[in-house]
Amino acid sequence: MTSGIRFDGVTVTYGSNTVLDNLDLTVEPGEVMALLGPSGSGKTTALRAVAGFVRPASGRVFIGDRDVTALPPYKRGIGMVVQQYALFPHLRVDANVAFGLKAQKVPKGEIPGRVAEALEMTGMAAYAQRYPRELSGGQQQRVAIARALAIRPNVLLLDEPLSALDAQLRSGMLAELARLHRELPDVSILYVTHDQVEALTLADRIAVMDKARLQDCGTPQDLYRRPRTEFTASFVGNANLLPVTVAAKGVTFEGVELEVPASEAAPGATATLCVRPHLVGLGPGPNPLRGRIVEVQWRGSTHRLYVEVGGHRVKADVRELKETPALGTEVTLHFAPDDAVLLAAGVNDG
Ligand SMILES: Nc1ncnc2c1ncn2[C@@H]1O[C@H](COP(=O)(O)OP(=O)(O)OP(=O)(O)O)[C@@H](O)[C@H]1O
Ligand SMILES: [Mg+2]
Repeated sequence: MTSGIRFDGVTVTYGSNTVLDNLDLTVEPGEVMALLGPSGSGKTTALRAVAGFVRPASGRVFIGDRDVTALPPYKRGIGMVVQQYALFPHLRVDANVAFGLKAQKVPKGEIPGRVAEALEMTGMAAYAQRYPRELSGGQQQRVAIARALAIRPNVLLLDEPLSALDAQLRSGMLAELARLHRELPDVSILYVTHDQVEALTLADRIAVMDKARLQDCGTPQDLYRRPRTEFTASFVGNANLLPVTVAAKGVTFEGVELEVPASEAAPGATATLCVRPHLVGLGPGPNPLRGRIVEVQWRGSTHRLYVEVGGHRVKADVRELKETPALGTEVTLHFAPDDAVLLAAGVNDG
């Protein structure tokens, strides 16, 4: 059976609430797709629609080339790790991992080997005889992942699998997940998170969700360098979003003419210019913006400067300055035309 996931116009409603609105999205075989978005944007709902725990009001879900919309969950060949990992507290680790295999009616003789294999992959072989309460949060999470992998799924659904872990464990588990994916190159992974670092690190592509809708989808680099919407620009990485007016050549911001990459926008139209703070330099240069420092944050390797230009605060992340500049200092910022992205106003609507 081929893997890969396809949402074809999937809509999910609860009463009169549309919580997933006509989702079209394809996860290629072997691809890691992150679903990134704020709380309540419909991420878990999308996952549940793939797993079969929620029935779409309209649209279809495919796994490989099979329409699974009407199939019960256990017939879909899916491994899933839910938002709050739910191990059975009264079962030892090995029995927890065996659970899905029994449900799938895997022959009894095969089960111990499959359990051992899954525990080996997640580095938990030595803990097979423990109860969940005798494990740390990170270890419990590994067992939950082992349980999902034991059924040798074509599709792995992970719903904020690291959210219960502290920052250090999280970054260790991120590396583990990346390794697991290298070991299982054919498994398609749909990975829900509201943490952009997780999405940027792990995903081949990111689907950005907001208000029940898919806002944007692309590689992490694409979304970061060429966001299409203000929402993506501000949700994936940090952004200066400057209100500008399109001119015959370039744009004007606070009466200053700026050179930006050519766009199709008509002169006179309002638009938003996105410039990443780390691409804004201090001192004279192309596209100079004069203003006054209103806030300074020292961040170790960088200084974050907030500079008031006209009525707007422009953020600049510059390499650590020898001396922290005083508030009120007049400075010039600049950025290269190619580093700016012009976002048409209103792309978020409709
Ligand atoms: N069983 C349900 N009945 C009614 N409304 C629901 C149900 N499950 C989810 N919702 C609503 O659907 C919307 C989307 O929920 P969902 O769980 O998909 O969000 P999410 O993006 O996963 O958020 P979070 O990041 O907080 O987990 C929310 O407004 C939520 O209140
Ligand atoms: Mg959720």
